[in-house]
Amino acid sequence: MQTSSEVRRYWLPPRVVGADLEVPLITGGTAAYANLDHAASAPCLEKVALAVNELLPWYASVHRGAGLASTVCTGIYEDSRDVVRRFAGAETDAAVVYTRNTTDAMNLLAHAVPAGTAVLCFGSDHHAALLPWRDARLLPMPESPEDALVLLDDALSGCPAGHRLVVLTGVSNVTGEVWPVAELAAAARRHGARTVLDAAQLAAHLPLRMAEWGIDWAALSGHKIYAPFGAGALVGRGDWLQKADPYLAGGGAASQVGEVAGRLAVDWHNVPERHEAGTPNVVGVHALAVACEVLSGCGWAEVAAHEEALLKRLRSGLDAIPGVRLLSMWGPAGRSVGATSLIVDGTDAALLAAVLSAEHGIGVRAGAFCARPATRALVRAAGAGPEGNALRASIGLGTTPAHVDRLIAAIGSIVRTGPQRKFEAVDGAWFPVPDPRPPIGIAHGRMAERAAALR
Ligand SMILES: Cc1ncc(COP(=O)(O)O)c(C=O)c1O
Repeated sequence: MQTSSEVRRYWLPPRVVGADLEVPLITGGTAAYANLDHAASAPCLEKVALAVNELLPWYASVHRGAGLASTVCTGIYEDSRDVVRRFAGAETDAAVVYTRNTTDAMNLLAHAVPAGTAVLCFGSDHHAALLPWRDARLLPMPESPEDALVLLDDALSGCPAGHRLVVLTGVSNVTGEVWPVAELAAAARRHGARTVLDAAQLAAHLPLRMAEWGIDWAALSGHKIYAPFGAGALVGRGDWLQKADPYLAGGGAASQVGEVAGRLAVDWHNVPERHEAGTPNVVGVHALAVACEVLSGCGWAEVAAHEEALLKRLRSGLDAIPGVRLLSMWGPAGRSVGATSLIVDGTDAALLAAVLSAEHGIGVRAGAFCARPATRALVRAAGAGPEGNALRASIGLGTTPAHVDRLIAAIGSIVRTGPQRKFEAVDGAWFPVPDPRPPIGIAHGRMAERAAALR
């Protein structure tokens, strides 16, 4: 009989679409694409793609049609709320409002926050968590997880009475470091503050446990959890959302629209419909819910073990290359998941990323990752110039040890001998000159041609 540890040894990650993608290289021929940019947008899970294909023949409008296909789509859309709620580990009565993504979810909550609420953010947060609030109080980037607790505690002690909201991040999208979410939420609660968790990066790598951690709201994006069909969610308390005007005004948000003395008289729906005006994205929501089910069902312990091994391999390989410096808020002792960022002495991160793509078929991201204050501070601390750009490699279910090894070898070779071909900078981005790669068939320029071929 197999023991559970034997079973675990044969665990395979759920498959993603695009695992066999071949990309052309400027040096000639093709390479298997190494997608090391999961943190920006994760590839689609095969099961999500299958589920979307299964839905498409039934595709019809949600809440707006009497036909059977409409009824089926409305059922899928509404039933998905339970799946997302369970995935988030939220209370059974938590509201699930569908949004486009995390940014949209944060903006929805910002719209619903009562006037006069003191909002506290760490300055190291992603722009989606930093920018939606008016007059947020900024806490500095903490020197350690313990320091984060002290900073928050101090800031809340000095906060005026009234509503308070603390914006938390689950996992840094720059360094992959895991924040002490449960402890920070407990500190917030001690001061009577509510919390919203930016779970954009956390949700792909760790189980989200809103109720256990005492989180009031969580914001997440489908495309970061292998469901790239344009849906995300805000999950959590309904009270502030219910008191707020609709986030978008329009069809689906109103239960009654009449006219009194030449003026509109509108009754708005309750949450969640109140904030979901317009035709709902049932394909995106179905994809999101299927991804939630696949992730919850495939075993978080196995996902963590698989990704931990890949990340360790990645970080130790990169760390061993002379001139490479890994960025970190809290040093190597803390837990990281999914991503690591680095700078290379004397090499523009954007050039490095362009060479990795064009000469090696490796996809990474360069820049400040929509977390400018954090990236700038981390790059400075690592000893590079003030531009604040870095290179990020991020892993997930679509990553193999071979992808990681290719990245390490490619960066090593670029550091030693530079690019094999000529690259020119245009507006901060680098391009190979000339670029002999053939145009890709699905590029917009070829759409007319493809449509003609289908006729
Ligand atoms: C930590 C974090 N928060 C928020 C976001 C915003 O997500 P989206 O672009 O899906 O709204 C991102 C995206 O990179 C992120 O990494």
